[in-house]
Amino acid sequence: MIVDRQGRRFRNLRVSLTAACNYACTYCVPDGKRLVAAQDELSAESMARGVAYLIEAAGIERLRITGGEPLVSPKLEVFLREVSQLGLADVSLTSNGQLLSRKLPLLLDSGIRRLNVSLDTLDATAFRAIARGGDLGAVLAGLEEARAAGVKIKLNMVPLRGQNLDQVLPLLDYCLERGFELRFIELMRMGHLARDGNGFLQQFVGMAELLAMIGQRHAFVQADAPVDATALRYEIPGQGFFGVIANESVPFCRTCSRLRLSSTGWLHGCLSSSNRHYVGDLLDKPRHQALPALQRLLVRALGDKQEVAFSGGVTVMKIIGG
Ligand code: 5AD
Repeated sequence: MIVDRQGRRFRNLRVSLTAACNYACTYCVPDGKRLVAAQDELSAESMARGVAYLIEAAGIERLRITGGEPLVSPKLEVFLREVSQLGLADVSLTSNGQLLSRKLPLLLDSGIRRLNVSLDTLDATAFRAIARGGDLGAVLAGLEEARAAGVKIKLNMVPLRGQNLDQVLPLLDYCLERGFELRFIELMRMGHLARDGNGFLQQFVGMAELLAMIGQRHAFVQADAPVDATALRYEIPGQGFFGVIANESVPFCRTCSRLRLSSTGWLHGCLSSSNRHYVGDLLDKPRHQALPALQRLLVRALGDKQEVAFSGGVTVMKIIGG
């Protein structure tokens, strides 16, 4: 097992199945152009083999499938079929929900029982302004179907000053009514926001302000969360839970257990680091050749983790998927 000086190790793997996305959210892609898949994207089989190798080489226990938008990828079905055989404790998926209705049967057949769906507003006009793609009604319909099928749902909202702060309470009520857990994600200095400090500060809304807004409507208490969780969890007694992923206000690098694999075969040990390690060529090699080489790269990837706090990154969420 590879462990660093702070006792950190990789437990949670996030695989970005594709960089392609059917949205162009303002905080993610500055020019508003939708992303397409990279030319040199790995095959579903290679990526699934990568997961199998990383379970052995790094001690991965849980997998989250991200993107881009994973539901747009033609690789989804084969990838899910392969990784569902690997005996992982948990396989979940982060999606913008646009194609959820259409893909739900496949997700259910593949054993997916937990979904994180990104939804920044319930207002159709604001939705178009932020996501710059897709249709709010389609997301809401997909969420209802997933809920009816018994899927455990978390909703991700990035609060943005001047764009969706009026939605904090409506989205919270929407989630509480349905048994969804809402997670507020503090805006991160990634990609263009790492370079544009003013743009970041104008939009950023911190945890204290959010909790004050929620406190005007609901009484809440802090709730338990796993030690390596990114979210601080709160319970509104008798009504449900919500969380805040407070990258800026309460950094969680000290307990980070995440490892990321991009759709083009790069390992990222830390979102804040520009270092990445190419493993695409290793994933098609037999196990006895791949594992020792992977382990050497994993030591370096673990060494890329920040000590205390995320300090901004040139890496972009659109490619690595959170
Ligand atoms: N800061 C915070 N959250 C972000 N996301 C994408 N880019 C950023 C950013 N710069 C969110 C998406 C999605 C989750 C995986 O990350 O909205 O819900």
